[in-house]
Amino acid sequence: MSEQLVEMVDNDGVVRLTINRPKALNALNREVIEALAEILDRLEGREGLRAVLITGAGEKSFVAGADITAMREMNPLEARDFAGQALKTIKRLETLPVPVVALVNGFCLGGGCELALACDWAVASDNAVFGQPEVLLGVIPGFGGSQRLPRRVGPAMALDLCTTGRKIDAQEALRIGLVNQVMSQAELEDYAATLTKQLSGNGPGAVRSAKQVIHDGMDQDLDSALALETSLFALCFASDEQREGMSAFVEKRKPNF
Ligand code: HXC
Repeated sequence: MSEQLVEMVDNDGVVRLTINRPKALNALNREVIEALAEILDRLEGREGLRAVLITGAGEKSFVAGADITAMREMNPLEARDFAGQALKTIKRLETLPVPVVALVNGFCLGGGCELALACDWAVASDNAVFGQPEVLLGVIPGFGGSQRLPRRVGPAMALDLCTTGRKIDAQEALRIGLVNQVMSQAELEDYAATLTKQLSGNGPGAVRSAKQVIHDGMDQDLDSALALETSLFALCFASDEQREGMSAFVEKRKPNF
């Protein structure tokens, strides 16, 4: 296995990223964030990109947070710089034009939970543990969790998690809507394979438009968002994809996108 801090494997345009610092439970330091930013330089604007899956190396941890050892001696300016660098990179991941999915294979704490929250959705192995334990360290979330967590699970649950610092298991994460599905570690691999097949087989432009309309629409009032849906729906009819997809249905064959 290579020693890269973030590994990248491309499978039919579905790119799998693995945060690779297993000895530190894949904790995020500056170097990992920089490695992720370099990969994003390559992914942004890349034709043929269908989806991004992100996971952690090993069977114990997705990401156990920002690197506490590195943060320990930071002054406020350094902390602001570190958080800013990570926030910007995580935002770039979030705004890739294709689905970004977190495969949460273990500890998903602090900055790790914040990374998962920036993904379009997350699925978890049954040994996964979630939490925003920053208050136990005398700080608050700094990679976007204070804003993305309430948007995903509601402000009351976000306040509970961010002020108690309590950890929750995968089943509770499922119940509160933090993850979409829970499965065994082995099933997580099957899930990744199935998702790769689905996302590389669907109309790529339609998949991108579906992400765009949901993301952009969530920031708008309902009427404006519905108008956006109508525009993007109509635009699909200017594409070869729409003709191929509907012709394939009528001709009882598989579409070739
Ligand atoms: C640095 C970490 C780390 C972290 C684990 N390690 N988490 N190093 N930063 N966030 C290291 C440990 O120091 C240890 O290194 C090795 O990984 C294995 O961890 P153990 O603690 O020995 O494992 P275990 O007993 O199984 O406990 C697992 C754990 C625990 C429950 C996940 O490691 C833990 O509580 N980690 C911290 C979780 C956390 O508080 N995350 C939030 C960070 S703040 P050695 O060298 O001893 O083997 C944050 C803020 C984000 O994320 C915003 C910033 C701007």
